[in-house]
Amino acid sequence: MRGLKFIAITMAAGLALTACGGAGGQGEKAGETSEMSKPGGAGGDVGVFTWWAAGSEKEGLNALEEMFKEKYPNDTFKNLAVAGGAGSNAKAKLAADLQNNNPPDSFQGHAGAELLDYIDADQIVPVNGVIDGLGGDKVFPANLLELLTVGDSIYSVPSNIHRANVVWANPKVLAKAKITETPKDVEAWIADMKKLKAAGVATPITVAGTWTQLHLFETILIADLGADEYVKLFTKEGKWDSDQVKKAVSHYKQILSYANTASDGDDWPGATDMVIDGKAAYNVMGDWAVAEFAAKKQKDGKDYIYFPVPGSDGVFDFLADSFTLPKGAKNEGGAKDWLNLVGSAEGQKAFNLKKGSIPARTDVPVEDFPPYQQSAMKSFKSDKIVPSIAHGAAVRVAWSSDMSSAISKFYSDKDEAALLAALAKAHEKNAQ
Ligand code: GAL
Repeated sequence: MRGLKFIAITMAAGLALTACGGAGGQGEKAGETSEMSKPGGAGGDVGVFTWWAAGSEKEGLNALEEMFKEKYPNDTFKNLAVAGGAGSNAKAKLAADLQNNNPPDSFQGHAGAELLDYIDADQIVPVNGVIDGLGGDKVFPANLLELLTVGDSIYSVPSNIHRANVVWANPKVLAKAKITETPKDVEAWIADMKKLKAAGVATPITVAGTWTQLHLFETILIADLGADEYVKLFTKEGKWDSDQVKKAVSHYKQILSYANTASDGDDWPGATDMVIDGKAAYNVMGDWAVAEFAAKKQKDGKDYIYFPVPGSDGVFDFLADSFTLPKGAKNEGGAKDWLNLVGSAEGQKAFNLKKGSIPARTDVPVEDFPPYQQSAMKSFKSDKIVPSIAHGAAVRVAWSSDMSSAISKFYSDKDEAALLAALAKAHEKNAQ
């Protein structure tokens, strides 16, 4: 059984994500022992592949790089980042490198469905020994580990957890339309966008290239369907022709009518910066955006505010970055040094402080983080957790690519019936 399945349930602690086919929690793989790094590191070049090539994302990677150099002076960090948010360019380059047996020593992959592609293609190898050495399920939520697990094998080391369903807003722009309250659902939110337009705000909400549109669309689906129905969409029984999905598509179309005109190459920082610069009121973006606000010296609560996409309060649209050990990595020892750093409490603190995400580990002190991340940690503990489509958690790359194509076409033709048909077709083709 190769499918990872999510169920949305409220849990007091830990993730409410269940992978079928997972090991049912952390288990030592036969014959493996924990793998701590040698003092100073294994030596040699360590090529690390990500899409954290610029801006606040690069700052997160830099924090890890600096610590890596300090802890493992024998190793030489090679930054193989390929620019483009959500891996929009990186994933194709990575696929080609893996195909040509030229893997990096470690690469960024999302926890959940996306990892299955690499596992099925036999491109990554288990890292149970590293996870055990880091503390296993004493320090990583068992259900997060399950999203990295097939059979008894754990296939990556999680670095962080991001929330995708967040609206970032400029209160000064909202004040122009006298908006002081958070809208309770999508309809009320669209009504606020109308007020903003009437008050002379040319761009109530921003979008960038296709992946940011898919990202926005998934959050509207969550708001209109609720956590339980949203999660069912990714099962064989998923109903992509339901009235709620139709409603979400219509809401999404209305929201786009209040957005800027984007071209496909536009990346997320531009869309978030329009809010920072007072050119727009809202941007729906994963909480890597908070790092952009921080990097631009914006003050939480004064220069920017944030809230869950209206109608999705109490739901945490989840994604997690993790790092793999590719089959045939040239420097396996150095790669394990990197994985040990990424999975360590100090590495997770340094990285997540810069990245806007929350640590995947549960033993990094909450009070070490600024208010947004503290609120995300709290939500993560009490909310229903659902998987992101645009960021590899809910569906495999083939399915999200089909959805991206449909969303991209919709951006130009705005044909609701055609989008619904394409989404249903993508489900029929890809659901397992
Ligand atoms: C996600 C990734 C995040 C962030 C974002 C924007 O897919 O998981 O860490 O980098 O893309 O690029």
